[in-house]
Amino acid sequence: MTRDLYSHARLYDLSLDTLTEARRKADERGVSVEWQQGDMRDFDLDSEFNLVFIAGNALLHLHEADDIVQCFRAVRRHLAPGGRFAFDVFNPNVRLLAEADGVRRPRTSFSDPGRGEVHVDAGLRLVERLGDWDGSPFGADSSTQLCICESAAGS
Ligand SMILES: C[S@@+](CC[C@H](N)C(=O)[O-])C[C@H]1O[C@@H](n2cnc3c(N)ncnc32)[C@H](O)[C@@H]1O
Repeated sequence: MTRDLYSHARLYDLSLDTLTEARRKADERGVSVEWQQGDMRDFDLDSEFNLVFIAGNALLHLHEADDIVQCFRAVRRHLAPGGRFAFDVFNPNVRLLAEADGVRRPRTSFSDPGRGEVHVDAGLRLVERLGDWDGSPFGADSSTQLCICESAAGS
């Protein structure tokens, strides 16, 4: 995204804390943004935009299909003719999903310039991955990914 894009941006978020922190960062960088608090499931900004984007996995905060549909409808109402809508979400990873058993175990960590050291926790250990319940091996053409897991050491 270019600086020019952000210089005419409006940032919309449910959380006042997020808006405050985003405003602080924008001020630091001399970027001009309009700030608005509200719910992405139902908004009317009385404007149309050439680009609407929902970044940083924010869409994953909507857990019900109806909420996502409502959000997408609201976005569509705000798109100027020829405008684009972009969003990013994690690429689902069955291995990670299988490890999400509610037990916190260290998985990996990395250093983020804004947040410092970030630790990622996980759960089960993948023992075997198959392409189907008939025991065929998993491959690029498999329609199913069957994961056989066991509790990670120490759980
Ligand atoms: C991962 S943060 C992304 C922050 C920011 N959008 C960015 O690009 O850095 C997710 C944000 O989604 C916001 N959020 C969660 N549910 C929302 C909703 N229903 N409507 C609007 N924002 C929401 C949270 O307040 C949080 O700031």
